Amino acid sequence: MTASETPIAIGSDHAGVELKATLLRVLTELGHPTEDCGTHGPESVDYPDFANRVAERVLDGRARFGVLVCGTGIGISIAANRHSGIRCAVVADSTGARLTRAHNDANVLALGARLTGPEVAIDALHAFLSTPYEGGRHERRVAKLSPNRTDAP
Ligand code: RB5
Repeated sequence: MTASETPIAIGSDHAGVELKATLLRVLTELGHPTEDCGTHGPESVDYPDFANRVAERVLDGRARFGVLVCGTGIGISIAANRHSGIRCAVVADSTGARLTRAHNDANVLALGARLTGPEVAIDALHAFLSTPYEGGRHERRVAKLSPNRTDAP
């Protein structure tokens, strides 16, 4: 499976389900394969369950990136970042999305449906997917995010 054939895993809680549907449509229109990890309706659910599903897929290679949505993007990003190897960034616009790919090698994008409108969220998604990790001076810092780092004081 080449990188472009590896799906993007997307998940949300109830607060993010509408924006998730919008982002899924955009991803499909762009030709990206996706895996919808739920939730699928407006019933109240717990955002960590969906963060966990997406994080597991990114970590084991079933997904090349993850996208998560909750009301603020905060809770679901905290949950995702509890997984070693996940670098989930909650962003409010395309600049944040671009810079977290370029500088942090973020592998999961989190958005807050109650804070970020769909047009801005779509722009952020585009920026996240089209920006490569810069490496270079960021390598050492990103390595220090790893739980297996060897330079811990
Ligand atoms: C759900 O009401 C809300 O708490 C959740 O979507 C999220 O904003 C938590 O961080």
